[in-house]
Amino acid sequence: MLQLAVILPTFNERKNIALMVERLDAALAGLRWEAIFVDDNSPDGTADEARRIARDDPRIRVIERIGRRGLASAAIEGMCASAAPVVAVMDADGQHDETLLPQMYAAVTSGEYDVAYASRFAEGASTEAWGRPDRVKASGFANAIARRVTGVDLTDPMSGFFMLRAETLRADAHRLSGVGFKILLDILATVDRPLRVKEFPLNFAARMEGESKLDRTVVFEFLVGLYDKWLGRIIPTRFALFGTVGALGAIVHLTVLSAVLHLFGAQFQVSHYPKEAAFIVGQTLASLTAMTFNFVLNNELTYSDKRLRGFGPYLRGWLKFAATCAFGMLANIGVSTALIRIGVHTYPAAIAGIILASVWNFALSSKFVWGKYG
Ligand code: GDD
Ligand code: MN
Repeated sequence: MLQLAVILPTFNERKNIALMVERLDAALAGLRWEAIFVDDNSPDGTADEARRIARDDPRIRVIERIGRRGLASAAIEGMCASAAPVVAVMDADGQHDETLLPQMYAAVTSGEYDVAYASRFAEGASTEAWGRPDRVKASGFANAIARRVTGVDLTDPMSGFFMLRAETLRADAHRLSGVGFKILLDILATVDRPLRVKEFPLNFAARMEGESKLDRTVVFEFLVGLYDKWLGRIIPTRFALFGTVGALGAIVHLTVLSAVLHLFGAQFQVSHYPKEAAFIVGQTLASLTAMTFNFVLNNELTYSDKRLRGFGPYLRGWLKFAATCAFGMLANIGVSTALIRIGVHTYPAAIAGIILASVWNFALSSKFVWGKYG
């Protein structure tokens, strides 16, 4: 009977596949196991390489995802695709010591533990061979804030090497976020009942071949995910991002406006309405710059999952965003002016107008620029 499935998410790991299979074969002798490579259509042909091996070895399976990216979601799909009662996730690059797998299996099947995982920071673990002191520091920091925000108290909640019973995962799989790299943390923070966790000290090795895929986007998604768990229910994450981008846009606006007034203020002195002319030019230029800045940043960050690409969609998106913001601005001016007329002070009135315009811009652009009517 099939006992264990090892899930190996891959992106551009072609040169590591054969070696990984060899290492698993040696480590798991005596167990009935399968290995599932979950590849996101890697340009280097990782999936082809895995299929080549799978043709001769029925223990090897391949899931190839098209148009998708992400370590955590790949791990979840791999775990859900196996009939094995116990599932493990590990890097496909040799960094995780596969000889720990039998001990992890024993811990999870003993009934004493729900989860077994390998920690880079437990006593007896080491990260020296990794050769990345910068990443050791960054992981320590990420672990510390993850512990604070989620209450998960492990030495390495960011670890990507763990094992658990498939039923434990299946019960809550639909509630996992599936974003970024933080799959173990996600499981521990999502499952309501406390899970009994067995920790194994890991000697985290250097990669066999290729490069790490943990980049700035992954770090950004991690921070967004923490925010979501922390304050997401009070101020929705997307709106918080949109608002932050908007605040940065306001700074851009004021910078451009003051630059125009400084640089060209004197030239406009010759016209009939010197001050107004410079202001109108400055304000128009500043609005367009800030609006474009907001569009670009929202497209990259706030809606990174629905990012508009290619000249046509990008231009259409920009025009729709401009139209949305134009209406938002009218509403802003209308409401703040009305408030001032009924005796509200200038700044509270201005802030009320800004909040109203932000909500309007957010509601409309989320549907018509990046949403289902986009
Ligand atoms: N399918 C898929 N899609 N696989 C991916 C993706 C993706 O978008 N991104 C990365 N992977 C695969 C890699 O090919 C590798 O097998 C594994 O996921 C881990 O990625 P690495 O690029 O090797 O990450 P790392 O070694 O720098 O990061 C280490 O620390 C992280 C936490 O700090 C690993 O141990 C991670 O597992 C861990 O989460
Ligand atoms: Mn790795």
